[in-house]
Amino acid sequence: MMPLSEILKIDGWMNEAELKKLAELCKGKRVLEIGSYKGRSSCAIANVATEICCLDTFKAGADGQTQDGDTLEDFKRNTKSFANLYLPEDGMFEEKDFDVVFIDGMHTADGVAMDVRAHENRLKADGLFIFHDYEEGWPGVVYAVDLLFTEKPKTMKGGSLAWIGKDKLK
Ligand SMILES: C[S@@+](CC[C@H](N)C(=O)[O-])C[C@H]1O[C@@H](n2cnc3c(N)ncnc32)[C@H](O)[C@@H]1O
Repeated sequence: MMPLSEILKIDGWMNEAELKKLAELCKGKRVLEIGSYKGRSSCAIANVATEICCLDTFKAGADGQTQDGDTLEDFKRNTKSFANLYLPEDGMFEEKDFDVVFIDGMHTADGVAMDVRAHENRLKADGLFIFHDYEEGWPGVVYAVDLLFTEKPKTMKGGSLAWIGKDKLK
């Protein structure tokens, strides 16, 4: 178990309220994370999930969006204490039956839509999609989520997490 105070020292953008809500939603679940960066959200999930699979290019720059950096070593160092956290094997990502798909990758509308469509079949029928940055500062995220689902997602106070069941996907 990594204390929240330690997790918040990892470079990243999720605030304390968001990390707590993310942990609440992922407790006891098998989670696929799209967009791990240096592991801030990954550690919050790994604290409570049965398993977390982390998918990232690990080439993000300091804004978390451009692909001109190299974050893999930081990610590995920050997450090394978790036995239930793993990366998919190269070219062999056949896994299905996740309870949760957490999407915090490319924040353009196309990027979010592609991530939903690329991974929807990995999510159980009664599974949950969670999105970060569902807020007006990231219009592409809001646009894509509102377009792809039949109703608005649930949201939180004090943060920009949004979540909605796979059964609401168009
Ligand atoms: C905003 S950061 C993630 C922040 C992270 N969740 C945290 O709590 O610190 C976005 C990440 O998504 C990754 N990314 C962008 N497009 C991706 C894609 N199509 N598949 C996987 N990862 C992607 C970037 O490399 C970057 O590390």
